[in-house]
Amino acid sequence: METPSRAASDGAGRLMMGCCTANDGLPHEGGSVPRRKSAACSGKKQEDEDAPLKYQNVALVVGITGIVGNSLAKILPLSDTPGGPWKVYGIARRPQPSWNANHHITYIQCDISDPQQTRDKLSKLTDVTHIFYATWSSRPTEAEKCDVNGAMLRNVLEAVIPHAPNLQHICLQTGRKHYVGPFPGNRVGWEDYMDASDADLIAEQQIWAAVDPNAKNEAYNCSNGDVFKWKQLWKVLAEQFELEYEENFEDGEKLTLEEMMKDKGEVWDQIVKENGLVTTKLEQVGCWWIADYGLNQGSGLDTMNKSKEHGFLGFRNSKKSFVSWIDKMKAYKIVP
Ligand SMILES: NC(=O)c1ccc[n+]([C@@H]2O[C@H](COP(=O)([O-])OP(=O)(O)OC[C@H]3O[C@@H](n4cnc5c(N)ncnc54)[C@H](OP(=O)(O)O)[C@@H]3O)[C@@H](O)[C@H]2O)c1
Repeated sequence: METPSRAASDGAGRLMMGCCTANDGLPHEGGSVPRRKSAACSGKKQEDEDAPLKYQNVALVVGITGIVGNSLAKILPLSDTPGGPWKVYGIARRPQPSWNANHHITYIQCDISDPQQTRDKLSKLTDVTHIFYATWSSRPTEAEKCDVNGAMLRNVLEAVIPHAPNLQHICLQTGRKHYVGPFPGNRVGWEDYMDASDADLIAEQQIWAAVDPNAKNEAYNCSNGDVFKWKQLWKVLAEQFELEYEENFEDGEKLTLEEMMKDKGEVWDQIVKENGLVTTKLEQVGCWWIADYGLNQGSGLDTMNKSKEHGFLGFRNSKKSFVSWIDKMKAYKIVP
């Protein structure tokens, strides 16, 4: 199993995708494959919409509150999602958070590192047809990461497979093949080309691969399909928060966000209070080692050629994607 650790602007989905655009009333970036018209959009009668739904597929999303799991929770239940109508079970340890609560899913609290709990809660899900595995656990060493993540995946599969006779497909989301430890700050990260992967795009690709026979048993990269430089994006990000920004990179002492932010918990608590935000801790909203990685590495670009050749043509404009996700985080009162 590939070790799940990650990088800020890294491609993520490796085994699937789709062609729908999320419809949650919040701003969305441009791009992606056009939506098909839903029954509601095409003027079908109200009684059709009120009729009990007969599900075509049943998804189990492991990591439903995560970056990509939350996008799957939003997109899978939509009326025009490929392979639908989908019934969706979602798994995470925490109680369902407010920003995940509007999705039409069955939320199940379960710690999949606990084999007994996983068996008790997931063996009952006998109608599952597709597993979307979008979770991971970080550990200090590669060996520990392999142990803990291997056990989590095994617990889920051992709980579900013997009881779900219609299971057809498992999507295992991982990270880039090789991750590296923190880098010192450098100019390369500022000047070089980077790519990113929008979480909705990853969810769309995973859904595409779940229903398109061309994608069966294949591994795919997922990235937005364009490139950017931090020195261009910095201004865009700063503007979203009305912050001053530096146009030029100055070589200096090694500076990491992980170090800079380690005693800023109380500052964040104050920001939350002053702005009436949803209560969070700083470590829940910022993942500094990943940001350090993204800001300090050279080019690490993924190609989408294989995915496109097999039929998934989705893409995102990375600049619009960053702005759109910041807008969503503001709308859900996670950041000011
Ligand atoms: N984010 C990135 O930038 C990135 C980049 C490249 C690759 N990836 C890869 O994508 C995959 C998913 O990462 P992600 O960033 O989307 O994940 P994430 O945002 O960290 O979300 C992880 C999800 O799993 C749940 N979870 C964690 N431990 C659990 C446990 N023991 N039992 C049940 N649920 C658990 C979390 O909820 P609770 O905490 O409530 O349990 C959360 O819903 C990983 O393989 C990662 O390497 C991510």
